[in-house]
Amino acid sequence: MDIARTPATPDGNFEMADAAVEPHAPATIRREDYAPFPWRVAATHLDFDLGLEKTLVEAKLTLERNPDAESSPTIRLNGDSLKLVELRCDGEPNDSYAMEGDDLILTLPGDAHELTIVTEIDPASNSQLMGLFASNGMLCTQCEAEGFRRITFFPDRPDVLSVYTVRMRAPKAQFPVLLANGNCTAQGEEGEYHWAEWHDPWPKPSYLFALVAGDLVARSDSFTTMSGRQVALNIFVREGDLERTGHAMESLKRAMAWDEETFGREYDLDIYNIVAVSDFNMGAMENKGLNVFNTKYVLADIDTATDGDFDAVEGVIAHEYFHNWSGNRVTCRDWFQLSLKEGFTVLRDQLFSQDMGSAPVKRIGDVRVLRSVQFPEDSGPLAHPIRPDSYQEISNFYTSTIYNKGAEVIRMMRTMAGEEAFRKGCDLYFERHDGEAATCEDFVKAIEDGTGLDLEQFRLWYSQAGTPKVTVALSHEGDTATLELAQEVPPTPGQPDKRPMPIPLKIALFDRASGTHRGEQLVVLDSASEKLTFEGFAAAPVLSVNRGFSAPVRIERDVAPADLTFLAARDDDPFARYEAMQDLVVGHLGDVVAGGLAAEEREAGREAIRTALAAVLADERIDDQMRGELMMLPGESYLMEQSLVADPGAIHAARETLKTWLGRELVEELVALHERASQAPGTLDAAAQGARKVKTLALTYLAAADPERASQMAAAEYDGATTMTDRQGALMVLASLDTAQRTAKLLDFYNRYRDNDLVIDKWFALQASSLHPQAIEHVKSLRNHGDFTLRNPNRARSLYMAFAGNPHAFHAASGEGYRLIADLILELDPVNSQTAARFVPALGRWRRIETGRAALMRGELERIAASSQLSRDTHEQVSRSLG
Ligand code: PHE
Ligand code: ZN
Repeated sequence: MDIARTPATPDGNFEMADAAVEPHAPATIRREDYAPFPWRVAATHLDFDLGLEKTLVEAKLTLERNPDAESSPTIRLNGDSLKLVELRCDGEPNDSYAMEGDDLILTLPGDAHELTIVTEIDPASNSQLMGLFASNGMLCTQCEAEGFRRITFFPDRPDVLSVYTVRMRAPKAQFPVLLANGNCTAQGEEGEYHWAEWHDPWPKPSYLFALVAGDLVARSDSFTTMSGRQVALNIFVREGDLERTGHAMESLKRAMAWDEETFGREYDLDIYNIVAVSDFNMGAMENKGLNVFNTKYVLADIDTATDGDFDAVEGVIAHEYFHNWSGNRVTCRDWFQLSLKEGFTVLRDQLFSQDMGSAPVKRIGDVRVLRSVQFPEDSGPLAHPIRPDSYQEISNFYTSTIYNKGAEVIRMMRTMAGEEAFRKGCDLYFERHDGEAATCEDFVKAIEDGTGLDLEQFRLWYSQAGTPKVTVALSHEGDTATLELAQEVPPTPGQPDKRPMPIPLKIALFDRASGTHRGEQLVVLDSASEKLTFEGFAAAPVLSVNRGFSAPVRIERDVAPADLTFLAARDDDPFARYEAMQDLVVGHLGDVVAGGLAAEEREAGREAIRTALAAVLADERIDDQMRGELMMLPGESYLMEQSLVADPGAIHAARETLKTWLGRELVEELVALHERASQAPGTLDAAAQGARKVKTLALTYLAAADPERASQMAAAEYDGATTMTDRQGALMVLASLDTAQRTAKLLDFYNRYRDNDLVIDKWFALQASSLHPQAIEHVKSLRNHGDFTLRNPNRARSLYMAFAGNPHAFHAASGEGYRLIADLILELDPVNSQTAARFVPALGRWRRIETGRAALMRGELERIAASSQLSRDTHEQVSRSLG
């Protein structure tokens, strides 16, 4: 594995600034150093002689000077772990090249040349899963962000667009299916071999290249686009998986129709292929016309996938499809612009899912992810703006900030502009930049021009990291209500001072007596503080603020529990209702953890929560999906976020105590709800899904309050389950209990699903995320289970991501949880550095954790840092976390 990179020559796109200072430190790439590539690659012809252990790649690049770039006598072709077999320039053998690190530098005298490059690669030993790799006997590529350079030498940067023609030759029996981007233009046979040629007419950057060769079967369908073109749709999977592709196919067709209706975007090839692969670092990849998916986001049926899995499949299928415009037709100039495609595409998939199901429930779920993953990132050592200024390893920047905060930032523009104007801005963006590699600035400018908004100050959302804190106070005098708003953007690494940003807040003032308000308003707070007055309020109104989570900020409101109870019961904005419930609990648990609460105060606090929760359980106006949201206690990661320095042990204990108390207080209501919900059919309609959701939530409260009884109920539910949702829900409850049923049902589950990798992933994850006091021991022994392997990212994550997200076990005061994750990182890093580096942030939060645990976390990071073999991925994350 290559760790140290040597400095770039002047024609490299970025200066590698640190390299001169510290020769062995990985270089830092800076956004401000961008320069266009001196060459254009008009055409790229790739010829693959495919084999699992040995693949030969012949690349023919048609080069011409880029008139828009500073001219250079040389060309830099990126490479990574490549074996060069042959190099020809304009037909003549060439050995006058130089290697700089893994890159190949060649002197080119003329204005146009044709390069022929032959490389040899070994897909079977590619455990990084970047470039061309083998998975279950099939061959498959992953090129984003910098994987193409593991296939051939190439200007592997997103602003070099080329038209690709790909020829693949392979043993026919072993690889009956041969796929690449675009359309199949020719195929034939040669004895035991066959070949296929694919051509993609749309110029694209190398990161969107893909090929697949394997023994696959397809579900096929078709879609007629708005202009009447027929598109053939195929989802390729392994033989036994075909029956589980129906939901993915339906999702794809819905996504295609929705993008036409909502964004006016039509598909642009005659064929759209999706391939499912079980070894994959990420969720899925939007390669032009040939999406490659983690099986987790394709395969679903009611027996093996939960309702949540179904939604995730729909969302990811849509996400990758939407990239065809937001990402492929308009791509990114450089990787600092990643949020240009990811933030926008996440927003697009969120809006799609809102339209397909319950919009408020989807919104609440998205905010929960943002607050439990992105907020911690934004307040920790890895905080970065949605358009970063520098990086060492781009793989580390596929973050919740780029994706989820990126989506929130665009959503704010949409909120301020209104849907119609926003659409005009988007149309303008696509029209202006179709076929180009664009920047975030291009996007903002198009939205500005298309909507008429002035986004001058708003651009700070792209450059400033950190979650703004907005302080809200409402006072009342005579018949005037006064709203005081103040904002503060916290310092983040490299950004000590911040400027105020425009923060769009949707607000409503409720009349306490009637429970109504006079209409929602949008207030844009764009200075450090502001005072707004509202006339005509004889009595003090109740303030509902940041409705719909209109801005991704932390709200600090000085509000009486009675007002929160009021909003939790009556707010007509479902998100605000959810928020009031959350705030009620967050406030109470904060008080408990801080200590010094008088008995009556604690009593009053939890009594307010009990009343609110009872109302939620009884409320007939809401559906069960929403009821489930309102029943959920705030997660521990979000709770830890609330204090500058958190004590995970105290937070866990306080939350569990509250859950137990609520379970006891509301036992009858919860049992009744469980019973009612158990009557629902095992179908996929919203009502049945909602019933399953509240059923399991009711059980978790009961499990805390009365483990024996809950254990019996869960065991019965497990046995009678006709859906994976119920079976997994019941097993999740059991996995946290120390009862005989636990062992029995875990064993049953394993035996039942031992042939299904995705379900066995759940089996690992359930045990690693359980509340069981011996969770650490369980993880240690599961590590040695015959079905565990570090080479499959889904499996590695199923055990260890689940564990790192299990606060009581991960934050064990002994430090054993931290050691376990550090050991994993060290062991996984040489195998799959991208996946290994994703575990570092869990340890990186030490500054925000009480001193005893902080020292242990830091110690583990130092132990990792001391390894001389670290990948660039892990090295960067560890050094930033210690920094
Ligand atoms: N571009 C992919 C997506 O978000 C994510 C991805 C990144 C996949 C890097 C693989 C490698 O849709
Ligand atoms: Zn994406």
